[in-house]
Order: sequence, then structure tokens, then C-alpha cells
Amino acid sequence: MELLIRGGTLVDPSQGLHGQYDLLIRDGVVVKVAESLAPSGEKVLEAAGKTILPGLVDLHTHLREPGFEEKETVESACRAAATGGFTSITAMPNTDPVMDDGRTVEYVRLLSCRAGGVRVWPVGAVSKGLAGRELAEIGLMYRSGIRAVTDDGRGVSCARLLKNALLYCRQFELPLFEHCEEEALAAGGQVHDGVAALRLGLPGLPASAETVMLARDLLLAAETGGRVHIMHLSTARAVEMIRQAKAEGVRVTAEVTPHHLLLTEDAVLGFNTYAKVKPPLRTAADMQALRQGLLDGAIDAIATDHAPHTEAEKAGDFLSSPFGIAGLETAFPLLYTYLVRTGVIPLDLLVGKMSRTPAAILGIPHGSLAPGFAADLVLIDTEQELTIDRRRFLSRGKNSPFHGWQVTGLPVLTMVSGKVVWMS
Ligand code: DOR
Repeated sequence: MELLIRGGTLVDPSQGLHGQYDLLIRDGVVVKVAESLAPSGEKVLEAAGKTILPGLVDLHTHLREPGFEEKETVESACRAAATGGFTSITAMPNTDPVMDDGRTVEYVRLLSCRAGGVRVWPVGAVSKGLAGRELAEIGLMYRSGIRAVTDDGRGVSCARLLKNALLYCRQFELPLFEHCEEEALAAGGQVHDGVAALRLGLPGLPASAETVMLARDLLLAAETGGRVHIMHLSTARAVEMIRQAKAEGVRVTAEVTPHHLLLTEDAVLGFNTYAKVKPPLRTAADMQALRQGLLDGAIDAIATDHAPHTEAEKAGDFLSSPFGIAGLETAFPLLYTYLVRTGVIPLDLLVGKMSRTPAAILGIPHGSLAPGFAADLVLIDTEQELTIDRRRFLSRGKNSPFHGWQVTGLPVLTMVSGKVVWMS
């Protein structure tokens, strides 16, 4: 089966392309990319006026299944992802049971095959039950298809365990995804330890909770030669530390979320539980440093940390409300509107940080529309406007602090292996 996508503007930084290109797809694989391809009997998709991007790849997605289906299921997350232009997402292991053995990994893979839309890449736990004491069945999980390990939701507190995990993962070239949060420093914290915390009278989460654990992780990555990937960076100091570690040759990569790029601690004022997230939203200076880190390469990727919760949970009082923001459906339009359109970062950089680079971190052959790659792509309408309405999300999690924001750059069609998985 052949399909020609014609007349669109292709933005694919993996090939250094930004301009009008046609794509020929055969049996779900890109076979030709050229300035103009004449149709010769195949199906044609007219993409004039649209921007074609490699399908977005999310390094950090909480699918909640098994165990927390009231928050999200693999199927609802896949639908939300396709709507947001994502063609590959990850499955974080903080489920019930925890994804810490081969069986649970296989179960999640089965659920994602049944969902039949976007690709799901499971991420196994570092420690059994995420308890931080004993290593999980990393080797068995690797055989079942995990692409990374993490105890996300918390950091790996025990330095010895982290070191062993880094050494063990080296033989599989698996990256260890770290949620940097030093437990004792973070204990009881609700929001960034700053002005908003003082005004609201809430216990703070200090920047040092992130940087203290990060310092240890960087030292252990250097000592072991293991690959560490730092999740959801939130502080200026952490960006600086990663920049320096990279210069020293440490095998470290890092991600930042749309909410840490666009919001500050002020978003929680009024006890707004939709802005309650870990790590917390921090100062304007931190936000600027994160943007700078994207530009100079200290930060490799943008990841959603899609963390769906129920309305009832978020409607409770601030202290008992869970941490997390549902982000799959708003990530691209928000970043396009507020970072690209405003001239803060170029479109090519945004696309690269949301496609080929995260794919490379996971070691998956996606995130590019070069000939030979699967035709995972998204068509964007850069003119259509929308007011974000969290009640209309396909995700079960409606917990977004971006409700009411005006955006453009909307995904209108998402394709996985040449098959349309969502269309507006
Ligand atoms: O806000 C957060 N929510 N941060 C995390 O690291 C975990 C996540 C969750 O699982 O809800």
C-alpha cells in the first residue's frame, strides 16, 4: 500500500529539513522525501497549509493501569496521546502492582496492543515495589521489552542501590531515569520553598531536594559509566550541574516539562491544586534557566510527565490533593504558542526535543521521517486557535493548570506506521 503526503511543510530536524517536501510511504514506512513527488496511482493526502512533524515521543507518561484505572487506562492515555500528536509514549511503573517484573511489563504491552493506537514503551522499576531496598527484576524486564528503569514518583534514596542499578543496567545499555528528590529535605513539602509557600503558609520543597540528589547521581554515573537520565528538571542550579557534567563526559541526559517551562510558583496562589506538582513550579529565574538549558543543549528533551488524577482527588484540600498535571493533550500547542511564536526557541529545536532526541534516549528507531523510518507523523495546523478546555480532554485526567489558555499549533492528524490513529 502506498500513500503520498503532498504539499505540506515538513519540519524534521533529524534530516535538517524545514520546507515544502512530499513524503512517499510504502507499507507504513517512509520511502522517499523530496521537494515534489508526482502522484502515480497511490493514495494521496493533501497537506497544503499544514506542517508535518515526526510523531512526538514522550519520555515520561503515567498510564496508571494496572491499578488506578479511575485516573487513566492504557487505552484512554493512548487516545489522549494521539490527540496531542504523540506516536510513542512511555509507561511509568508506579502502578499497582508496580511494574517490577516481566509479567507486568508483558501485561502492559498486551493492553497497549489492544488499544491499537500509539506505541507504548514500558519503563520498569529500579527497585522491587518502588520500595528502594532491593533491585527489581531488571534483566527479566529487559527481556520483556523495557526501555529504561525508574522509581519515578520518588528518587532512589539508597546510594548503594543506585550504584548497583547503574552497573547492572550498563550491560543492557538501559538508561536509569531518576526523579531527583532527596527524601529528608523534601519531607512534607507541598510547593516550592519560596514566596508563594510563605504567602500560603504551606511547607516548602527546597531546590536542594533536587540538587543534592542530582550531585550524588552525577558522581555515581561518572564512577560507574552508567547512563543516567534526569527527569523533570526544575531548578537553575540543576541545569548548571548537568551542563558541567556533560562537559566532563558524564553519560547524563535530561528532560524538562512544559509546565516547568511556562509556569512559576505563582500558579499555586489561591491554593490551586491543578498546579500542585512534583518537582514544584519554581521561580521565574529557574524557568528562564530551563529555557536557556534547552537552547544550549544542557537539556536534551521535553517530556510531559503526564500525571492524571481524578477530579475528586484534585477537588480536595491542598494538603491531601495528589501531585501531578495531565499534559499529553496540551504539550505541543502550549510550547508552540508560548515559546516558538514568541521567539524564545525555534520550531526546529522544539520538534527535535520532542521527537528524535527522546527516541534516541529510549533507543527506539523513531522520531524521524527519513527514508527507512516508520511513518509515525503528525500534521499540525499552525493557524487554528483553541481555548484549552480541560473538560474536553480524552484523558481521564482533567487536571490541568492551563485551562482557559489560548493556543494555536494544533495537531489535526496523527499517524502510526502510515495508519491514521486520530483525526480532528
Ligand atoms: O507530580 C508528579 N506526579 N510527579 C511525579 O513525579 C509523579 C507523578 C504521579 O505519578 O502522579
